[in-house]
Amino acid sequence: VHSTEFLKLILPYPLGASVNPRLLEENSSYRALAMNEFTSITAENHMKMALIHPEAMRFDFVKGDEIVAFAKKNKSRVHGHTLVWHNQTAPWMKDFQGDQQAWENLLKNHIQTIMNHYQGQIAGWDVVNEAFLDDGSLRPSIWADHIPDYLAKSFTWAHEADSKAILFYNDYGQDGKPKKMEAILNMVQDFKKRQIPIHGLGLQMHISIQSKNEEIKQVIEQSTATGLHIHFSEVDVAVNPKNNPDFVNDVMSLQAQSNKFHLLFSAFAAIPTKQQYGITFWNVGDKDSWLRGYFKRPKEYPLLFDESYQRKSVYGELYQRL
Ligand code: XIL
Repeated sequence: VHSTEFLKLILPYPLGASVNPRLLEENSSYRALAMNEFTSITAENHMKMALIHPEAMRFDFVKGDEIVAFAKKNKSRVHGHTLVWHNQTAPWMKDFQGDQQAWENLLKNHIQTIMNHYQGQIAGWDVVNEAFLDDGSLRPSIWADHIPDYLAKSFTWAHEADSKAILFYNDYGQDGKPKKMEAILNMVQDFKKRQIPIHGLGLQMHISIQSKNEEIKQVIEQSTATGLHIHFSEVDVAVNPKNNPDFVNDVMSLQAQSNKFHLLFSAFAAIPTKQQYGITFWNVGDKDSWLRGYFKRPKEYPLLFDESYQRKSVYGELYQRL
């Protein structure tokens, strides 16, 4: 059987990767893995505000459309990332001047134009990304500053645009940050009480071999207890979190990483099937990871596939243990 068929047989939920359209186009190994090893696709950057809505009156769907077409050809699901975020906003948004109504019109139009464009092609959306700080307070942003209750409003506008889309709140680093986790759970309770549509929680899972298993398990259990869909949305497991320049990715670190991958897969398997939205890795090969590019950590090896796009030595073991 073709490997994606195999994946569909052994995993009752989609296994995803975030992708970079330039690499899909230029690198045939990358493209082959994205096609053959994953059943869900997220745009790593190209559906974010700055790229998809570069000017007030202009949306740019070219790269997003390419990713959707690639996924369709491979019968992969598409996950939408992300409609509202404090980061990677468009410059014109930061310069925008207007009263509350004008800001609400801007954000509503942003959300609804994109969702209308991808209607029926994107299964679920990260509606709001990273809205809370570690201490549980609302993160300051142009949205928080200008639109009272912007979280609830964003979800309401999203549901209005596409009532079939699964609407996620997505965030990172809930493990070991009880105040942040509490803020997320309080938001879910509050939304349920006010009948604000929310259907899923995205746990980014940018973790490391030093992350604490108990803390990870706890936030998964707390999230699952909401009854919402659960997405491990941006998984990577750093093996060299302190960016040691002399780091060697030896058998020990590979094994420690495999153990963390296994923890994530087994914790996910314990989630009731109807709540399992999927597990998405934050890119394909170690070389492509944002930990290398964005964080400039050249000796980092956080993903399922190595620098030569080969399965990690522990890959088979990982699947055997599922
Ligand atoms: C990252 C991308 O991987 C980088 O290429 C980009 O420069 C910055 O953003 N949380 C998120 C993702 O929700 O959108 C971020 O992606 C990683 C952290």
